[in-house]
Amino acid sequence: MSATRVKIVACGSIDNGKSTLIARLLLDTGKLTSDEREAALRGGDGAALASLLDGLAAEREQGITIDVAYRYFATPRRSVVLIDCPGHEQYTRNMVTGASNADLALVLVDATSGVTTQTRRHCRIAHLLGIEDYIFALNKIDLVADPAKVFAEHSRAIDALAGETGLARHNIVPVVATSGANVASRASDMPFYTGPSVLELVEDFAPAETTEAGFRLPIQTVLRGDGSVRRLAGTVASGAVAIGDVIVVLPGEQHATIAAIHVGTTAIDRAVAGQSIAITLDRQVDCARGDVITTASDPAIVADQFKADIAWLGDKPMLAGRAYTLKLATQSVSATVHQPDYRLDIETGQHLAARTLRKNDIGTAIVTTGRDIVSDPYNDNRIMGGFILIDRETGDTVAAGMIRHSLSRSQNIAWQQASVDRDAHARQKGQRAKILWFTGLSGAGKTTIANLVEQRLYAAGLHSFLLDGDNVRMGLNKDLGFTQADRVENIRRVGEVARLMTDAGLIVLATFISPFRAERELVRAMVGDGDFIEIFIDTPLAIAEDRDVKGLYAKARRGEIKNFTGLDSPYEPPEDPQIRVDTTAMTAVEAAERIARYLLRELGTIDD
Ligand code: ADX
Repeated sequence: MSATRVKIVACGSIDNGKSTLIARLLLDTGKLTSDEREAALRGGDGAALASLLDGLAAEREQGITIDVAYRYFATPRRSVVLIDCPGHEQYTRNMVTGASNADLALVLVDATSGVTTQTRRHCRIAHLLGIEDYIFALNKIDLVADPAKVFAEHSRAIDALAGETGLARHNIVPVVATSGANVASRASDMPFYTGPSVLELVEDFAPAETTEAGFRLPIQTVLRGDGSVRRLAGTVASGAVAIGDVIVVLPGEQHATIAAIHVGTTAIDRAVAGQSIAITLDRQVDCARGDVITTASDPAIVADQFKADIAWLGDKPMLAGRAYTLKLATQSVSATVHQPDYRLDIETGQHLAARTLRKNDIGTAIVTTGRDIVSDPYNDNRIMGGFILIDRETGDTVAAGMIRHSLSRSQNIAWQQASVDRDAHARQKGQRAKILWFTGLSGAGKTTIANLVEQRLYAAGLHSFLLDGDNVRMGLNKDLGFTQADRVENIRRVGEVARLMTDAGLIVLATFISPFRAERELVRAMVGDGDFIEIFIDTPLAIAEDRDVKGLYAKARRGEIKNFTGLDSPYEPPEDPQIRVDTTAMTAVEAAERIARYLLRELGTIDD
């Protein structure tokens, strides 16, 4: 029988002797070559051991570039993956990646200094990421004057920390990483401690059986086999499945029975967590990448709103209401994060008031996805409950999240499908619903041109409505200012209103600076690509400022208005607008004519 695999995240700083301890484990379990062994033992001090470790090959986590190193060793009973997270810079990022893959945490505490702020942080993050078992290695115990007393004192502090952090199980071992005392074998000269060594604890640790959890197979690809036979392929996230089992494909809730299971070309009867398999069902079901196959008796949750703990990793702070891409297992959807309920003080565990999350912050917030996704609470299933958020512009991973629970709101409120729908409303008006979205700097001419367009549409007998930035900000969005977060929320709300208006069958003309691509794309996604016409009113800053119709540029220059677009607040021009109006090359009337013709052609009212 092969040795059970244990994944351990090692936390602590170089100063605590973490590298030395890891090197010691590798050395004493025979993982090093004879040359490395000789080099390591030379001089007999920790420096040689630690520097040797730095030379060992490190594997890097794919996807996110993080300095987390994976090292491997084995004993007759266990094969061990040691996940080494550098403790200094970027510690949250590294810890989140490392701990989310681990079964057990090995926390280094320096006997000469005891429990530190960093120890608290490590424990709190590891706990948040679902680690239940901890080994505290109290290193450098040989350097203190009264080891028995120091061990007792530090143990009390560690017990207290474990209690307040909510760690399920922990052990404390006094060690000397340089000599190897209590690392791989028990020390002979520590009468005050007669318990197991670090390695013994690792060997006795039994990771939870992943096959006991409900069966989850996130579909990676739908393979077309011979004839009409389709195979659904993916890696089993948890549980086990056998031929004849009744399953349900979520979110569509289609039931079927497992007819065959393949690993490559080999047919098997039963598959378990971690295996990459292809499943054949007894009937055709409508499914695609991102759907999840689960046991019918224990299905996952289907919802579009969750409470989640979020570790923010991006350089730029989180923007509540901004659309990010959420990836969970093989699912990829648009998602927004609400203003956090609180931010966690990682040292004290206190909940602090927060409007956003900044780099390395951890907080709790509601997440809403653009459509239903399939998940489990993170504590029940890390693969089905852990997600990342990606910035749609840069493609960077900006957050890691853990679903705590789905919100019943999302399961209890269903979009009411009116029987007189958007098309019916529009047909009655002899048109199609559209959004003409005017974006550009303040004073670019958006409102002027949109007004002229609307007059043309009115004259053509079309039904429209003009939603204007200044007007909406006097009512619905009176509570919003001009910070990035407020502008994101401004456009999110306006998008919702515009969407409702299109549902009423109207042609909506929206004139908002809408400086960020992400929000403009959010509105596009809300109404559907074909019905969103992005119009870039392209007026260079110098010209808009020169005209300064409202006198706002002058005020902004005098410092009386802050966060003014184009001056001290950014504007992201559209990359591929449906219409670009260069106001330096045409008059407002000409621009309106062009836009109106474009729309009428889209509606099929004119055909040239
Ligand atoms: S947006 O950025 O959130 O889309 P919106 O179009 O609603 O802005 O409002 C812009 C209008 O608010 C401008 O035309 C201008 O009249 C006024 N305004 C007041 N303060 C600012 C500011 N700091 N930046 C830009 N516009 C401002």
